[in-house]
Amino acid sequence: MSNNEQTLSIIKPDAVERNLENEIKDMFKKKGFLIVKEKKIQIEKSEAEKFYKVHETKPFYSDLCDYLSSGPIVVMVLEKENAVLSNRELMGATNPKDAREGTIRKKYGISIDKNSVHGSDSTENAKIEIDFFFND
Ligand code: CMP
Repeated sequence: MSNNEQTLSIIKPDAVERNLENEIKDMFKKKGFLIVKEKKIQIEKSEAEKFYKVHETKPFYSDLCDYLSSGPIVVMVLEKENAVLSNRELMGATNPKDAREGTIRKKYGISIDKNSVHGSDSTENAKIEIDFFFND
């Protein structure tokens, strides 16, 4: 039985700025993901604050929201079996210093803030995050 699932992925400003969009998309495609929706946008800080609301009590919240709204990002809906988990494996640890060889953050991440990609952390949040960016 197929267990196809969708997850939300964001290519963050540090990666878009370095023209890594196609390299990162190739890594998703090689792992078997279909990119079923995508758009390149720049968001306001107020929208970043809504998106990252789960982190609002964290000390890094304001910087994180400044950062996500600092330049163009690519938001994508990725589809695959067990997409949420599979994407988290492919992204690697939040801090690129801890990310394993072969992961996106190991290859392209600069720091814990400029870690090149975001991915939903659960199927429940995937639905919420997909709806946040693709609600039309
Ligand atoms: P992301 O997967 O987009 O989710 C929240 C982001 O907060 C995370 O990636 C990091 O880029 C950023 N961040 C900054 N500082 C921290 C921290 N100390 N712990 C976790 N995430 C952090």
